[in-house]
Order: sequence, then C-alpha cells, then structure tokens
Amino acid sequence: MNGKLGVLIHGAGWVSTQHVDAFKTNPHTDVVAISSRKLSSAQARADEAGLDVPCFDSLDKALQTQGVDIVSICTPQHVHTENVIAAARAGKHLVIEKPLCNSVSDGRAMAAAIRAAGVKTVVCFVLRWNPLFQTIKRLLADDALGHVYAVETGYQSYNGDWWSGYGDARTKAGGVSSMLVGGCHAVDALRWFADPTEFGAADPVEVFAYAGGARGSSTRQYNPSTNDWHEGEPLEYEGCEMALVKFSNGVIGKITVNHECIQPYTFPLEVFGDRGTIRDNRVWSHKFPGQKDWVELPCIGPDSADVAHHPFQGEMDHFVDCILTDCESHCNFEDAWKTHEVVFAAQECYRTGQPVHLPL
Ligand SMILES: NC(=O)c1ccc[n+]([C@@H]2O[C@H](COP(=O)([O-])OP(=O)(O)OC[C@H]3O[C@@H](n4cnc5c(N)ncnc54)[C@H](OP(=O)(O)O)[C@@H]3O)[C@@H](O)[C@H]2O)c1
Repeated sequence: MNGKLGVLIHGAGWVSTQHVDAFKTNPHTDVVAISSRKLSSAQARADEAGLDVPCFDSLDKALQTQGVDIVSICTPQHVHTENVIAAARAGKHLVIEKPLCNSVSDGRAMAAAIRAAGVKTVVCFVLRWNPLFQTIKRLLADDALGHVYAVETGYQSYNGDWWSGYGDARTKAGGVSSMLVGGCHAVDALRWFADPTEFGAADPVEVFAYAGGARGSSTRQYNPSTNDWHEGEPLEYEGCEMALVKFSNGVIGKITVNHECIQPYTFPLEVFGDRGTIRDNRVWSHKFPGQKDWVELPCIGPDSADVAHHPFQGEMDHFVDCILTDCESHCNFEDAWKTHEVVFAAQECYRTGQPVHLPL
C-alpha cells in the first residue's frame, strides 16, 4: 500500500484500454488487478499496459485482491447489474460503463446496492468531459444564449461488427435498443445542455418516441472506417429511434439515434436560447454585437466513435477528486439513471403508443 487508491479493471475489452491508461496516468491511483471472463484477456491487457498485477477470470476472485478501492466495470451492459451489485457489496467505489443495465428492475437493484454500501459512483457519459461540451456549458452558464428553451442532439453511428462489443450488444437480450446501446450518449447530452448551469443536467418529466429505420434483419454489414460492405450478423432491434422530451425547467428537446446511417460518425447538437444559438461548434450570441457570421469554437468536438478519442482522463481525474474530497459526481449513478429512464420510457411508448411521464 503506497497511499494511492487501488483500481481493479473488470472486463478486458476495447473500452478497458482507456480506463487502464487513465488510472495509470492519474497521480493518485494505481491499477492493482485486472479481471475478465477469460484469464488470457485480462493478462493480455496487463501485458499490453506494462503492468505486473494479478489477473483473474472472475470478479469475485479479483475482489479479494488487497488494496482495491475502485472497481471499473468494463463488461458488456447485460452483466453490469451483477458486477455492480457484487462490487458495491464489497464496499468499492464504482466506475460504471454505459449503459448501466438492460431494465428498470435491474436499475433499481443496482441503486439499492449502491445506496446500502454508501460508495461513490461515476457513469461513463464521458462526453461531459469533451472540450466542446465543456466550452458550451461555460457559455450557457455565462448567459451567452440567454434563456435556453430547446435542445436537439443526435447519435449517428452505424453500429456493426466493426465494434468488438457488437456480438453482445446487437441482440435484444444483450443490447435492448439503439437508444440504450449508443444513443444514451445523445440522451445524456440533451439533459446536459437543457440545464444552463455548468455542472447540472436537466430532469426529464415526459417522453414520446418512435422507432423505425430500414435495416430490418439485413445481414449486409457496413464498415464506416473502410466505407465498405460485407456479410455479418443482423441487428435484432430497430436501428433508428427519435424521441421528444419535456424537462422540469420547461426546456423541450429532440433526440435522434441512428445506428444504420451510411456515413462517418457524427454527433450533431443544437442549443436554442432567446439571445443566441449554438449549432455544433458554431455560436450566434448577443454577447457578440454586430455579429455577421457564426463564431467557430476551435476545440475538440465529439467527432469520433473511437474510445481513444474520448476524454476518459478527464472523467477519471474528476472521479478521483470526488473520492479524495468526499464529493458526489454530477454524473453519479443517481443522475445517470435519469438519462436511462428516458430510454426505458421510449421502450414503453413503443408498447403503448402513449407519452410516458417520468420518473418511472
Ligand atoms: N463510454 C463510452 O464511450 C464507451 C465506448 C465503448 C464501449 N463502452 C461500453 O463499455 C462496455 C464494454 O464495451 P467494449 O467496447 O469494451 O466491449 P468489448 O470489446 O466486447 O469488451 C468487453 C469485454 O468484457 C469481457 N466479458 C464479456 N462477457 C463477460 C462476462 N460475462 N464477465 C466478464 N467479462 C466479460 C470480454 O472479455 P473476454 O475476452 O474475457 O471474454 C470482453 O472483451 C459496454 O457497456 C459498452 O457500451 C462505452
């Protein structure tokens, strides 16, 4: 024990590479163990990162390791619930990859375990640490748009077997919906920009949504990085969803999730206020008198699906600060659950054809 917080990484796939790097870099943490379904995957992640740490093929065994303070859950979404409950019962602080879980009842079980354990949590809505997101939040807090009344966000990314997690997430049982698997980032961004304070996310009170798209059970797979086609496993749920959301502060919002668009990844966003507009990285504001053209913000945007492009360092540094200073993260389980409720409400709309009131 060297006075640092010890981190156990569980689930040694694509996203775990970034969790490992971020906790290796943070001056207050050490990665002290890695576990996965296969021991060989955990060992490969440790070797690749140059870490001489114990590796395990089960979370229960890994939780016995001396000096684990934080567990980073990087497994597929359908095993998050059992992982979170086990790690919370062991008294560990939790980094939980999105999506949190696959059902409302699973979410409630996780919430109960976290509350009972009194541990800290952060959920990986990592775009909250993206430089463009941070800049826009500072502009909103500085009244650049005046009173914000409407927000639109989109997650436009062909979800196919280019992604290592596709095998689990493409099924109804494993992934549930496009809005849950990838689109939850757009839901969270909608909440984030619907609240004009720097570190707040708005509370959704009503949702209406449609699901559709043209992909059906097609086995034709598109690869956006090579702009090419091949045969592969179909997506079991609809590839396109659109939802309208009303927030408790009166803001209205629209989310488009498209897992079948034939184009490079994009994450469009628009924020409308009574004194200005933000459209992606362009600003029109009463703060710029005589403005004749959009002002462009020259900062890194949400431009890539690659996890290496995501600001995990900022998120993990924030979470470590929260633990060291005994503060709750703005992106803790309780807050992130409100994002997930919009997704589960959309599912309810498809069943009933009626708007759904929140909280569920
Ligand atoms: N925040 C973000 O922007 C972001 C980006 C990408 C992914 N994610 C999320 O991160 C999670 C993992 O995604 P990924 O892309 O890293 O997927 P991935 O590459 O498939 O990695 C998941 C790993 O978990 C292990 N695993 C599978 N089932 C398991 C089980 N039952 N118990 C223990 N380990 C198991 C597998 O390792 P073995 O080799 O041991 O079987 C697999 O390599 C998902 O929830 C995904 O949505 C988030």
